[in-house]
Amino acid sequence: MAPNSSDLMSPDHSDEQAHCTRTAALAVELGRRAGVAAEPLAQAALMHHALESPRHWSGLGRLAWQVVGGDDARRIADIVQICNLVDEQFEALEFEYKEVETILQEIQSFAAFEGFDPALVEHLRAMRCRELPGGLRLPVEAGAACLVFRALRAEREYEIRDLEAIALRDPVLAGNLVGVANSALHGRAHRVSTVGRAIASVGVIAARKVMLAAAMRPLFASAGLSRIWSHSLSAAPFCSALAGHTGLLSSEEGLVLGLVHDIGAVAVQFLPRETMDTLRNLVEGGCPPAYVERLLLGRDHGEIGAGLIAEWRFPDEFMEAVRFHHQPERSASKLASLAYLAEFWSGLDEDLPSFGRVEACLERVDLTLETLMEMGRQDSTLRALKVVA
Ligand SMILES: [Fe+2]
Ligand SMILES: [Fe+2]
Ligand SMILES: [Fe+2]
Repeated sequence: MAPNSSDLMSPDHSDEQAHCTRTAALAVELGRRAGVAAEPLAQAALMHHALESPRHWSGLGRLAWQVVGGDDARRIADIVQICNLVDEQFEALEFEYKEVETILQEIQSFAAFEGFDPALVEHLRAMRCRELPGGLRLPVEAGAACLVFRALRAEREYEIRDLEAIALRDPVLAGNLVGVANSALHGRAHRVSTVGRAIASVGVIAARKVMLAAAMRPLFASAGLSRIWSHSLSAAPFCSALAGHTGLLSSEEGLVLGLVHDIGAVAVQFLPRETMDTLRNLVEGGCPPAYVERLLLGRDHGEIGAGLIAEWRFPDEFMEAVRFHHQPERSASKLASLAYLAEFWSGLDEDLPSFGRVEACLERVDLTLETLMEMGRQDSTLRALKVVA
């Protein structure tokens, strides 16, 4: 669901609660490795601001917990304090980027004067996946998507018979074209049953969009990412409209950017099982996926995705936009800002919310929030594909 502008302009009182929830999720995972029970850890983390109002849990609040806690009180206090620091550091990444290892080293260096056991930080290190970057690949279905992308990205006019020739090579493309042409959204009185008639029915431009999207879908389906796929179908027409409005890309390239921006999430699904379990636990505990990816893998799905599609020979700026679509402040590229705005508008809560980033990106691509919201109308062709898929 896309955010509305009045929600965005009003202060969000749930920030502190979200911080406590993420701290609890991290504390439970760290505690699992340190042999500390989940329930008291989660309770202590969720109440760590209730014990003391400032965001730093130290001094009296910490002492109070140690007095009221049981045998594990000291370790519980230590773990919550470490996880609180991790979350604070991750919240600050939009202002100052640091490698995760640097963050962990800094937290360890605080131990002497904050009074926690620095050895507990090692459990966070142990959670991290050491098999990157070579271990992540797109599944085999990527080959078909890559071929269609290359064929359709060529800058030339396509006629119905050209598109038909491409679509007939792949039953998925053919089926999707016929399905979209016959969908209720197009309101056809007479059903079509051939690819050629389907293309003629929806038009060559819309047919190209459907084919590009249909070529991508098996990738997301193979990784069980139907929610991300549905989000990509929403982001794509919006990205296309933004691209056309700003003149940064052709509207068709904008569509492709919207479809592939989260491709890194496909590869993330094929991580080693232990890492996947930790990732799932943290996400289910309330940590956004891009945040967890940064913690466990040292990079988010944008950075992973850009590397994966490098062989598809997109322009460098396009790759940059995929790479930094969650961290636009790390790139001078306006396209990265555009991709961030498309991601923000199609709102899947993939990362920590940041109105500062939204404002900076709007300024960079010379848009207002109101214009952005108005542009969020859906493209009926891809909406039809959602129905068919
Ligand atoms: Fe806190
Ligand atoms: Fe994303
Ligand atoms: Fe996304």
